[in-house]
Amino acid sequence: MDQVVRGLLRAKKAVAFTGAGISAESGIPTFRGEGGVWDKYPPSRFGNLLGLSWEWLVNPGRVKDFIKDVLEAFLQAQPNPAHLALGRLEALRILKSVITQNIDNLHEKGGCHKVIKIHGSLDRARCSRCGALRLMGDQGLREIVQNLEMRKGRRVGFLKWLGYLLGECESCGGRMRPDIVFFYEALPMDAWSQAMAEAQSCDLMLVIGTSGIVYPAAQIPFLAKRAGAEIVEINQDVSPLSRIATYRIEGPAGETMGKLFSLLESKNFREWG
Ligand code: OAD
Repeated sequence: MDQVVRGLLRAKKAVAFTGAGISAESGIPTFRGEGGVWDKYPPSRFGNLLGLSWEWLVNPGRVKDFIKDVLEAFLQAQPNPAHLALGRLEALRILKSVITQNIDNLHEKGGCHKVIKIHGSLDRARCSRCGALRLMGDQGLREIVQNLEMRKGRRVGFLKWLGYLLGECESCGGRMRPDIVFFYEALPMDAWSQAMAEAQSCDLMLVIGTSGIVYPAAQIPFLAKRAGAEIVEINQDVSPLSRIATYRIEGPAGETMGKLFSLLESKNFREWG
């Protein structure tokens, strides 16, 4: 911890790369492992649009359960000490950006302003035709949960039903879809280029709560390492990224980041005060 704090105080540009583990203590289940999203809803059926379209034909109730579970977890979650610590590191100008694979909005709620969301955001809808974005906010998501049982669209395909649920595009009348990345889809180009640029220009990267097995996202810490950055991994378990870590802190993200930030604050005051 002490060495990591010193590294953070020394860093000219620290960047965080986060995954589902950082939001676990906020009550959002991770994807992998026991009790994870993919445990309950296999990714071959629920993690990609083709799978979901098929599941919709044979078992629409299960698709609705999936959507409801994901949205309700999103709506009840509040930032935990790890999100808050990153927000305060940004306020101290130590942390320059957060690159996240998460589709929740807990980094923003935790006080981070530069959040690069390489897998999209659950509270945004995107027009499939013109690409216009619409922020739905918590209220919009609550309405979606309430409308899941709507009569309209009972016998239409999954994408059309989603379109009914999300409403038309205000710009072109096109069909809206969630602005998130499903398996087999490309990452949003602007977010991905920004993430690569941040990784290649930082001198310390906090890698928090990711299994590091989903590509291309998992390339980010390797890009930072190759550019000479120190890698700090905070995770309950080892991951394929552990081998490139300069430092590893094994433990829950919220608890660990909370302690790390308190230590940094006390050192910061001692050294600057
Ligand atoms: P995973 O569910 O794959 O991994 C979560 C990681 O967090 C694991 O390494 C856990 O050991 C760790 N972890 C769990 N609880 C923790 C805690 N309280 N504190 C610290 N670490 C903890 O989630 P991601 O790595 O984010 O993509 O998954 C990457 C991508 O795979 C997701 O963005 C999603 C998924 O399929 C898409 O949907 C495109």
